[in-house]
Amino acid sequence: MSRTTFDIITIFPEIFNGPFSQGMVHQAQKRGLVEIRFHFLRDYTSDRHKTIDDRPFGGGEGMVLKPEPLFAAIRKLQKQSGGENGKVVLLTPQGRQLNHEIVQRYSAAKHMVLVCGRYEGVDERVNESLVDDEISIGDYVLSGGELAACVFVEAVTRLIPGVLNNSLSTLNESFSGKSNLDYCTLDYPHYTRPEIFEGHAVPQVLLSGDHEKIRLWRRKKALEKTLKNRPELIKYDLLTEADKRLLE
Ligand code: 6GU
Repeated sequence: MSRTTFDIITIFPEIFNGPFSQGMVHQAQKRGLVEIRFHFLRDYTSDRHKTIDDRPFGGGEGMVLKPEPLFAAIRKLQKQSGGENGKVVLLTPQGRQLNHEIVQRYSAAKHMVLVCGRYEGVDERVNESLVDDEISIGDYVLSGGELAACVFVEAVTRLIPGVLNNSLSTLNESFSGKSNLDYCTLDYPHYTRPEIFEGHAVPQVLLSGDHEKIRLWRRKKALEKTLKNRPELIKYDLLTEADKRLLE
């Protein structure tokens, strides 16, 4: 199986020490399915002071990442990987919002260059000339794209074939249930032992051994939770008659 490479360009490489050295992403690297490389933006400056940012033309708050170091870094990484199939992704609150469909598309890519912006901005010429896609992880502002890059790498890596032992476990999860349904619901609630915890019992149906009853209960709870937390996900006209009865 060929390896997927993430090249991350950042001004804070230490941020990534934690998230990628444990759990699923760590295992994927150890097994050679994924390679994650870090590139310190300052290493691509050519002035004495290693300047990475400057004041915005037209005035205003904050600093803007200069184009020269970013051009140098991105071009070098593209050349290194042979050029053609790499995708350059800028993590920025101005991007389109990441979702399962986008994650799925990237899980088929072999090389991604992730550029961690800072929230004040990146010189737009980087975008115009080198960036294929601008991605945000939600409607709130982070000081830099580093944590968003962690989210992106984790979400994409777990969909790379061979990364999860049980490929079925991702199929039934929230947001990936398009195989048997044409719309999304959140996942149903889960319980494990003990049967009674601080006076709260596990729903009796889960102990019944009746798989059809359990399936219906889980479907109902998934619909309930979706209605409560993410009502906009429910496409009413795509619900089955049984779903509608469960919702009522
Ligand atoms: Cl990708 N970057 C920053 N700086 N803030 C964000 C974001 C990205 N996504 C949501 N907020």
